[in-house]
Amino acid sequence: MTTKNEIIIKSPGRINLIGEHIDYNDGFVLPAAIDKCILLRLTINGHSNRCTVKSEGFTSVLIADLNNLAKGTEGWHNYVLGVIGELQKLTDKLSGFDCTIRSTVPVGSGVSSSAALACGLAFGLNELFKLGLTKWDLIKIGQRTEHDYVGTKCGIMDQFANIMGKEGHFMLLDCRSLEFQYVATELGDYRMLLLNTNVSHNLSDGEYNIRREQCEKGLDILVKRFNIDRTFRKVTSEMLLSIKTELGPVLFNRCAYVIEEIKRVQKAARELKNGNLESVGMLMYESHEGLAKKYEVSCDELDFLVEISKNEPELLGSRMMGGGFGGCTLNLIHKDAIDGFVKKAAQSYKKSFNINLTHFQTQPSEGTAMISNF
Ligand code: GLA
Repeated sequence: MTTKNEIIIKSPGRINLIGEHIDYNDGFVLPAAIDKCILLRLTINGHSNRCTVKSEGFTSVLIADLNNLAKGTEGWHNYVLGVIGELQKLTDKLSGFDCTIRSTVPVGSGVSSSAALACGLAFGLNELFKLGLTKWDLIKIGQRTEHDYVGTKCGIMDQFANIMGKEGHFMLLDCRSLEFQYVATELGDYRMLLLNTNVSHNLSDGEYNIRREQCEKGLDILVKRFNIDRTFRKVTSEMLLSIKTELGPVLFNRCAYVIEEIKRVQKAARELKNGNLESVGMLMYESHEGLAKKYEVSCDELDFLVEISKNEPELLGSRMMGGGFGGCTLNLIHKDAIDGFVKKAAQSYKKSFNINLTHFQTQPSEGTAMISNF
């Protein structure tokens, strides 16, 4: 049970039906918060500046001094220190606190355990110390933490999905205007199944930021050449084709993927609203193809899982999800076909890569909120 000085926060991971690597490219995304989450128990500890944070999955305890925030010694420390650092810039109301973290969100699997940690903590401290920050403040704090303390120049999708998630709904977010609408998830007998390659990614390794830079370079050239507003939304396939040589194969492919994916997401949102799941599935396959061949953020293990999904008649669509280079595929599959498919997929995956496949089903769930039991 919680007391006045103690609160418990439930902070979810996220899935994204379609619209990958286009949140930072002025595109649209279609994410949802999920039922895998991080729990944070937060207590005001009476010290003026000493914070103690421990995560049940890790042995190290992070002790932070609010007046002198050092760099973290483990990856997850930087999310905590980043959130504290960003809050310190906005308020002088923080004082010492203790935090215990428990997680069921798989790390490095493309379901955004990192935004769950950063946004969950920001949300919790906002409640604990009555800071009065808005949901968008918390989303931006989560994003700045990734940019400035972790080093991944991510878009806004993960933090947005974490805070704004609504049970039974995807969210169509316009990453340019930040306007969004909830789209009810009516999947009938179909389910969302995640297959985890158990190949872990670390986006701060650099490839993520390189993709972002390549898109910016490509867009610079397009803007100069066609005198258009600086957004991929103004770029047509004809424009792109006409300067293929100038862009070179890499920038051409990156930009082609972006403008195609922007269109695919808008179409997928319409098809989802009309209940046309077969068409959504086809778009998922197209998205994967683009991510693998043009954006080059997939890997052999993800491609293998998407390829074998095509042999399953009751599976409508499959694609890599999140930043890529490992993590999960998202599959839209009939509920009666799940057990058989998972069994076959696990056997052939093990045979090909000697790695155990894991899986879970999920559904759109509530965003970060206060709950009463840890
Ligand atoms: C990561 C980033 C997001 C987004 C996805 C790819 O999850 O944090 O902002 O770019 O990759 O769609």
